Amino acid sequence: MSEGGNSPYSNSIQRASASIQCHQRICKFPLINVRGVPLMSCIANDFDSIWDFKPDPSDLLIATYPKAGTTWAQEIVDLLLHNGDAEICRRAPVTERIPFLEIFTTPETPSGLDLLCKMDPPRVIKTHLPFQLVPPGFWENKCKTIYVARNARDNLVSYYHFDRMNMAHPEPGPWEGYIHKFMRGELSWGSWYEHVKGYWKEREERNILYLFYEDMKENPRREVERIMRYLELSLADDVIGRIVALTSFKSMKENPMANYTFIPERVFDHSISPFMRKGEVGDWTNHFTPEQLRMFEEDYEKQMDEFDIPFRTNI
Ligand code: A3P
Repeated sequence: MSEGGNSPYSNSIQRASASIQCHQRICKFPLINVRGVPLMSCIANDFDSIWDFKPDPSDLLIATYPKAGTTWAQEIVDLLLHNGDAEICRRAPVTERIPFLEIFTTPETPSGLDLLCKMDPPRVIKTHLPFQLVPPGFWENKCKTIYVARNARDNLVSYYHFDRMNMAHPEPGPWEGYIHKFMRGELSWGSWYEHVKGYWKEREERNILYLFYEDMKENPRREVERIMRYLELSLADDVIGRIVALTSFKSMKENPMANYTFIPERVFDHSISPFMRKGEVGDWTNHFTPEQLRMFEEDYEKQMDEFDIPFRTNI
């Protein structure tokens, strides 16, 4: 088994993180608009090659708005595909097992596309791209797609803390201003509202399995079984139970191949906020003032008008 800390991939991440440091600080990637969606410059500059990516019909896409529960879904899927074998699923960091389609950072780090072209299908592929920016090959080839959505309030809180600890992302600035950036769709990967609506509109026609973070918290076994059926797998009851245990927040926080401690501290500073932060539904109550919530909800009603997506802010 390759230890993630010493794999060629981890070594190249170490080298790359050193190279994006300038004057003791990490260079942040500015956001550039791609067809109306702000993307980090390292992604925007190579967008044509991402758009041209041709998946295999057997590939599986896991799509999310950032901080909606991507890593959680990735671990569940990897375990389901390996019959709950924890050892195999610790073969490498999650970023290497399930490449991040659009990620480009530095010339030293393998991009998502670099990793994918070295893997044989069927591959599992992660993306944060909104529906309209997903390479059309996924839909032409009828690839299975799992979308995880998280209620806007908790998604925003999680993104805020992530932007504080991720030195390559733009500065989040103060919480109050961050709320407005979220509402205006100015964060990396754009508007949460358009993202969740975009996949929702297409879910039936494209056979997208549309999941909710809150449902996964409420009844993880039910949701693991839902994913299993979508993947056309049939695993023994005890294996499903093991997968549920291995993908609990506590287990994943302790799993060095899933908790993002494999990214160097000068890029992801877990002392500011750990990647596996709280893993709860309702942490928004600790962040919004009553006035902020009123303003956020008034805007939410307008932006989500005519869309009855059953989000829950408490379970
Ligand atoms: P918090 O910041 O609210 O804790 P992503 O993987 O899309 O970046 O999402 C990260 C968010 O999902 C973080 O939310 C993280 O703690 C949470 N998360 C990751 N694994 C989880 C699990 N097994 N159970 C519950 N939440 C999880």
